[in-house]
Amino acid sequence: MSPLLLFLLLPLRCVSGLPFYNSFYYSNGRHPGHGRAEGLFNGAKLVVQTPEETLFTHRGANATLPCRYHYEPALAAPRPVRIKWWKLAENGAPEQDVLVAIGLRHRSFGDYRGRVHLRQDEAREASLEIRDLRLEDSGRYRCEVIDGLEDESGLVELELRGVVFPYQPPQGRYRLNFLEAQRACEEQDAAVASFEQLFRAWEEGLDWCNAGWLQDASVQYPITRPRQPCGGLGLAPGVRSYGPRHRRLHRYDVFCFATALRGRVYYLEHPEKLTLSEAKQACEEDGAQVAKVGQLFAAWKFRGLDRCDAGWLADGSARYPVAQPRPNCGALEAGVRSFGFPDPHSRRYGVYCYRQR
Ligand SMILES: *[C@@H]1O[C@H](CO)[C@@H](O)[C@H](O)[C@H]1NC(C)=O
Repeated sequence: MSPLLLFLLLPLRCVSGLPFYNSFYYSNGRHPGHGRAEGLFNGAKLVVQTPEETLFTHRGANATLPCRYHYEPALAAPRPVRIKWWKLAENGAPEQDVLVAIGLRHRSFGDYRGRVHLRQDEAREASLEIRDLRLEDSGRYRCEVIDGLEDESGLVELELRGVVFPYQPPQGRYRLNFLEAQRACEEQDAAVASFEQLFRAWEEGLDWCNAGWLQDASVQYPITRPRQPCGGLGLAPGVRSYGPRHRRLHRYDVFCFATALRGRVYYLEHPEKLTLSEAKQACEEDGAQVAKVGQLFAAWKFRGLDRCDAGWLADGSARYPVAQPRPNCGALEAGVRSFGFPDPHSRRYGVYCYRQR
């Protein structure tokens, strides 16, 4: 064997210690689906690596879902592979093809067309970039590498940062069937929350005594302080479930999920208090729009919006956000306070506007 060939058969690069990539740490596959997946190939193993940690990002951002593969022992010559990315079925949504690539040829599918491409900055990289992230992009994605008959894959979990809020329409409590609940959240620039999102909100202290729809068409409510009118003192704190309900016949409130925004919510400085229609007009004259409920919650949660003045919102409710609780400003906890849906002709409120940047 010639010295040159011998050189080529050696691993090209020796990595000492633990592999790091894009600040994600890969351990050796303790969780099924994450970390490493290995396949045997002509004596060489095909190994696919994805991060174990969930990627958190926000709506409108560009995200890169890392995926790399290699052979053990390393192969001298590059081999042609096919790459396939798809999104797993979840919360009633079906499995979705995202992208397939053979060599330099790519094809993307459905809602992902024109928004995704493969990042191959390095050899044996198969990362997926998704641009202009939408609410419905959160979920679990599979990166599959196909080399001849070998086929290995890894999982990447993508989550958008957001805030869960309960929503009741102007008509009052328990008026929404599931389809109306979906529409109500969309109108507030939000989506129906998943159980995981509600559960995380409960861990962070959300306590709400009215039951609301979740994405899987179950109806639940989060209690951190058990009390008599909310299921009684005998029950432990937790997310309490009524189980799956009929999507058309049953009516409840809804838990919506709003993600962090690129635009800005602000209280409009205006000499007088306004009626609802004056409020909408005043925002337009300021080059903005009257803010939606989801936008106010997101600004409160992610931008620390704090203002003691109640203002109109697009749905006709009046609210104000308190990030720093103080005695002369409502209650003693941070939150978004609501005055319900006041008479739209009353002149007792200012207005919160939203300007897209
Ligand atoms: C996302 O990527 C596109 C194309 O590279 C770029 O034009 C856009 O500004 C990026 N968006 C963000 C929020 O970084």
